[in-house]
Amino acid sequence: MNMETKTGTLYGIGVGPGDPDLLTIKAVNILKSVDVVFAASSIKNKHSLAVDIAQPHISEGTDVRALPFQMSNNEAERGKLWEQNAKIILSELQEGRSVAFLTLGDSLTYSTFGYLLKIIKQTAPHINVVSVPGITSYQAAAARINTPLVEGDESLLVTSGARGGDELRKCGTSADNVVLLKAYKNVTDINSALKDANLLENSIGISKCGRKDEQIVRDVREFEKRKPDYWTLVIAKRNMACNK
Ligand SMILES: C[S@@+](CC[C@H](N)C(=O)[O-])C[C@H]1O[C@@H](n2cnc3c(N)ncnc32)[C@H](O)[C@@H]1O
Repeated sequence: MNMETKTGTLYGIGVGPGDPDLLTIKAVNILKSVDVVFAASSIKNKHSLAVDIAQPHISEGTDVRALPFQMSNNEAERGKLWEQNAKIILSELQEGRSVAFLTLGDSLTYSTFGYLLKIIKQTAPHINVVSVPGITSYQAAAARINTPLVEGDESLLVTSGARGGDELRKCGTSADNVVLLKAYKNVTDINSALKDANLLENSIGISKCGRKDEQIVRDVREFEKRKPDYWTLVIAKRNMACNK
């Protein structure tokens, strides 16, 4: 890098869960002006859903690049992959280019941007980072079913269903409202934990919210017969049926 070159800014952009109209004006303005757009993609085909969602807002001719990333339960493996990706992004920033890193939903909620942010903070703390929030999948899902997520003095637990009902059990079963993201594996166990928390009857599943093939499943027990897709969440409410 030329000593005179000013490093670029890194923008972590939440693109929302699917509908390109659900990006913030701030995100859209940044996408129009950045030099490079990065997004995590499948290792198999370099396809990035986040890029598809943001595409209408990315200026023609912008350098858009996929960073193949395999989700791994192995933390060391995951860390190594993200160190490689961070190096690629850093080299652009150090050349003075501005970079947007796209993530689905919100940029800091169970997001790949979180991994990147950690590494950049540790290895290149001089880089200017701007995190731009996005509409989360569960906010869009609640809107889709016209159901408040939380009201008055109620509590809202947002947790992961990746290990079945474990996280719900660990957090206790007293929350007034529960959102389970990653509710696609071990659905029988998720349902069993919802039942123990007296929430099963008042649960609703939403898959691919805001996308062409969106599905709303009014009885989450159906997921036991028909395994849901990765893009599935469950909203459960103690004091109100989810607009059933
Ligand atoms: C790694 S998390 C990403 C969460 C995202 N950053 C957010 O703010 O919503 C992936 C999980 O988010 C949920 N998700 C994301 N997009 C979704 C959509 N369009 N419809 C339903 N669930 C979605 C699913 O539970 C999926 O397993």
